[in-house]
Amino acid sequence: MLRWYKIEQALSLKNKGITEHKFGARVLCVAWFENELYVFSRNCPHAGAPLKNGWCERGKVICPFHRHEFDLITGKGETKHHDFIHTYPVKYEDEAYYVGVERSFWHRLLG
Ligand code: FES
Repeated sequence: MLRWYKIEQALSLKNKGITEHKFGARVLCVAWFENELYVFSRNCPHAGAPLKNGWCERGKVICPFHRHEFDLITGKGETKHHDFIHTYPVKYEDEAYYVGVERSFWHRLLG
């Protein structure tokens, strides 16, 4: 089950690269690329680099440490690396952007 969080000041994030934002208990990366807004994991699965220090090109986020690439839509890494990041759904509603984050096990359990 998803919980939708408003991405505050989403339009002002254009041209600011990749930024980190807290949504509930999670800190995620937010980035605009070719006029679309994307939300994805904070850290690279390879060795934990902060993806906020990376950049987006060709529809991918590039890790700043060893240049692994992850698709901004699916989160899939390159086949040779067998890794991926989590990507999160984004919707535009009532003149604001929202990201959908799965509720944690404990939140589901405790309601
Ligand atoms: S830490 Fe990201 S590619 Fe190595």
